[in-house]
Amino acid sequence: MKKAEELVIQALKSAARDDRLKYAVQQSTELYPLLWKAAKRYVTGEKIEDVITVAREYLDNNYNISIEYIGENITDLGECERAKNELLQVIEEMGILSLKQTVSFDLSHIGLSINAEITYKYLEELAQKAQRYGITLMIGMEESSKTSDILSLYKKIATNYANVGISIQVYLYRTKVDLQELIQYPGKIRLVKGAFQEPIDIAMIRSEELNSRYLEYVEQLVKANHPISIATHDEMLIQEIERRQYFDKSNVEVEMLYGVRPELLNELRKKEYRCRVYLTYGSEWYLYLCHRIAEQPENLYLAVTDIINESIRERSIVD
Ligand code: FDA
Repeated sequence: MKKAEELVIQALKSAARDDRLKYAVQQSTELYPLLWKAAKRYVTGEKIEDVITVAREYLDNNYNISIEYIGENITDLGECERAKNELLQVIEEMGILSLKQTVSFDLSHIGLSINAEITYKYLEELAQKAQRYGITLMIGMEESSKTSDILSLYKKIATNYANVGISIQVYLYRTKVDLQELIQYPGKIRLVKGAFQEPIDIAMIRSEELNSRYLEYVEQLVKANHPISIATHDEMLIQEIERRQYFDKSNVEVEMLYGVRPELLNELRKKEYRCRVYLTYGSEWYLYLCHRIAEQPENLYLAVTDIINESIRERSIVD
């Protein structure tokens, strides 16, 4: 990787973690609408109606969907309760429409940064309602400082609710051990490479080593017949998983983020593999946008273009 690219990635990942910058963007009547034009490439809209409209379009085209109401690291209890209520509403909307799909969220959106007991209470409320409608909940994985807390809440809820799954980050060295335990629970495991800037003694950088670790975990889960989401846009990895015929198995699906490599997911869908699109909505998109650009520094050019062009061109779901 070129030096300049590395510097951009580091700067974006640091900006993503800067709560003051995030607050300034969210509050600014000038910056928010400007950056929103770039965020719209990856975020379906600010309101629940926006995400449901996009979700229906994907469902009509034989994709499955996950919906995330974006937000994390909330330290105000009232805001956490509002986020939990919003997620209950997403579940309700999906239930009314008989959409047996997935709702995703970060535990620090519903209280993890304040109190684990309250978070568990909210999590249970969500799991109960989701179970009633045949909906799956997927917990996102956050910075490594929260991994143990997230996993311990997951194990507690997964003991009683098989409809709750967990995302795990392959880049963390600890995942090798965590996976042995997580495989004992029935919930779906979503394998992601990992999006945060972490110290090199605990996490791998993007590398061959990381990709072979990813494949090793896929193989373990496939062999255990465990429900698994292959959550990556990495074409080489996907080709290898396809070569091994894992996508033919009923417990394996591939999942990609809205706005990232839609043409690749469309190709896989045409082969009739189980394909899921991860849709986000809400106004707390700052961190999410920084991550999407940091993953692919060329996306900075797209962001600038989106900001300059007054209206982002209407995108079909397959381009
Ligand atoms: P990698 O970053 O190695 O990229 C491989 C190739 O994919 C690139 O060369 C490019 O072609 C394409 N690509 C990747 N990102 C792109 C982008 N933004 N724009 C355009 N092309 C791109 N992370 C986390 O820490 N916790 C979590 O809970 C989740 N949850 C989650 C759910 C789902 C459904 C997905 C798909 C991803 C996540 N992630 C996540 C993010 C994940 O950790 C990772 O940062 C991104 O998926 C990018 O990594 P890849 O596996 O795509 O490979």
